[in-house]
This record gives sequence, C-alpha cells and structure tokens, in this order.
Amino acid sequence: MAYSNTFKNILINWYEDHKRDLPWRHTVDPYKIWLSEIILQQTRVVQGISYYKAFVTKYPTVADLAHASEDDVLTLWKGLGYYSRARNLHYSAKFIMDHHDGNFPREYKDILELKGVGKYTAAAISSFAYKLSYPVVDGNVLRVISRLYGITDAIDTPAVVKRVYALSDTLIDKDRPDQYNQAIMEFGAIQCTAKSPNCDNCPFFDQCVAREEHLINQIPYKAKKIKRKSRFFHYLIWKDGDQTVVQRREDKDIWQGLYQYPLIETENIKVLRAADICKDYKGIRANQVTVQKISDVYVQKLTHRDIHTRFYHLLVSDIQLVTKEEYFLVDQKKVPNFALPKVIDAYLS
Ligand code: ADE
Repeated sequence: MAYSNTFKNILINWYEDHKRDLPWRHTVDPYKIWLSEIILQQTRVVQGISYYKAFVTKYPTVADLAHASEDDVLTLWKGLGYYSRARNLHYSAKFIMDHHDGNFPREYKDILELKGVGKYTAAAISSFAYKLSYPVVDGNVLRVISRLYGITDAIDTPAVVKRVYALSDTLIDKDRPDQYNQAIMEFGAIQCTAKSPNCDNCPFFDQCVAREEHLINQIPYKAKKIKRKSRFFHYLIWKDGDQTVVQRREDKDIWQGLYQYPLIETENIKVLRAADICKDYKGIRANQVTVQKISDVYVQKLTHRDIHTRFYHLLVSDIQLVTKEEYFLVDQKKVPNFALPKVIDAYLS
C-alpha cells in the first residue's frame, strides 16, 4: 500500500499524543507484561489495573508466582472471571521454573508454548519486552485494518485473518515494534472504536477506505453468529446455625478449583422442591428441610453460555445430615473469602 511507509509514523505520533498512562507501559519486564496481557485478555483496562497492581505486588517475580498455592492465586483473581487464565498463569510460572531455569523465555516460539498464550499475547510480550517485530492482531486490530483497507469479507475467517497478518507485517515499524503494537491497540481501543469511531478527528481520514465509501458501520463484517447455550444451576445454601457447606469444584471446566455451594444442575430453571433436592442426599428427607428462601434467577452471560442460577436457603437441624466427603464445613460469614464463581460472589455481596 502506498501509505505503508508513513502509516507507522502517523500512528505512533497519534499514540504519543493520546496514550493512556497505564502501569504495564512503564516496564519491560516480560513477566509483568505477561501478567498484564493475560489479565487484559478478557478484562477491561479500567478493571484490570488494580488486579495487575495486586499481582505484581504480591508476586513480583515468576518464582513468587510459581511458589504460591493455586488457592491463593485464584483468590487474588477473585472477581475477574474466566479463572482458567489464573490457573494457566500459575501452571506456566511453574513451567518456567522447571524448563527455563526461572527465566522468562526470550524467543517468540517459546513464549507461544506457554499455556494460555496465543499468537496475540506472544506478539505483545515479544515486542514490549524484547522489541521483536511480531505484529499484534486481535479484534481491535482486525477492525482498524479492515476499515483502513475496506475489507468487506468476514473477518472471522482464517483467510481474512491471514491477510491482516500479512498487511500487519508490512505496516509494523521494525525499529519500534513495541511502540507500533501499543499504538495500534490503543488506536482501536479509543479512536477507531466499534460503535462510534471518531472519524472526524482521525489522522487516517483521507486514507481510510471504509470512511471514504461510507462503510464504517458495515466493517468489520462477521459471518458467524455465536450459538448460545443455556445452563441452569441451583446452588444449595445449607444452614445449621452459623454453619454451611461448600465444595471445591473439580470438574475440568472454567470454574475448576473454585469453591461453590453444593450444586444441582437441571435442564430448565423450574424451581426445585425439597423432595427433588433430597434425592441428592442419603441421610435426609424432605420433611427435615425448611426452605427458608428461594432467590430470583440470576443470569450470567459468558462467551458461549448463559448461566441461569437460583439460590436455595435451606435450614436443617443438623448439618451432618447433608455433609458429603467432598464438602467443607464453614462459617457462613467466611464464604465470601473463598474464590467463588462470579455469580455466587455477586449474590453474596
Ligand atoms: N489490551 C491488551 N493489551 C493491552 C495493553 N498492553 N494496553 C492496553 N490495552 C490492552
């Protein structure tokens, strides 16, 4: 493209004038950059800042993170959601201790091997920490480049992603890949936004094909609609005086390792009766349970799932009637201190 030589300069100048002062932009420590990028994968910048600061304070080095317990890491992650990110961070910190002598890998291919690190994150770390010339391509970058070049084909196809990578290879500033990558991310985040891009004050006003052809609202075009599935959760808050029970979730899913109230999952959100609940327990009958309260339905929207949840407050005369091997007996007031799925956190706060 005719403007590829100047694109990087205009972009980086724009960045110098408009960039936000974010804590991870003051470091070249690959470990800290990795932490920030994992946090930012599915979290907004504003929310991510306090978590980033908490993590680098409590775990200032890879070794500190590797030596922490998974419970402690998940607890510090509390409230961010998508906990597999925290489990992968912890796993990868231990991996770096075992396979890289505790030194964060310096090569792109080794960074890409870390669990939870995809091409985008590997490019971000490689460029910010080591000034390696790997362009970042994420949703923001796909939007900026597809608008700039007037790409009307669906951006969620391998062919278009490949084309955007190829274009990015020509656009990136090979002397300043760190600046270029920060700049294009920032440009997508605050200038060329999805819903209301600031075209009137855009440094690429004259070059942008989508603006010229009045296609800003049509680009980027996505072909696939995400198919959403619903799941229906019923959490049981057993109560005997101050006591209740929680369990650690072992299923290999996004909530693995978190704590939760005993859970019954059903095919729909119909209210469970005491008799339905007691089918899950050997030692108790429906007439020994007082249903104190049943909550409204809370809906949590994940990328591909809607989780519909109800909470049941159930009084029993003796908590031993409902304990199981995998349950922990705890004081009800202590439950908010556990690393909990977001919906339970929200219900308790
Ligand atoms: N989103 C992902 N990485 C980011 C970064 N380094 N700065 C701002 N937003 C980001």
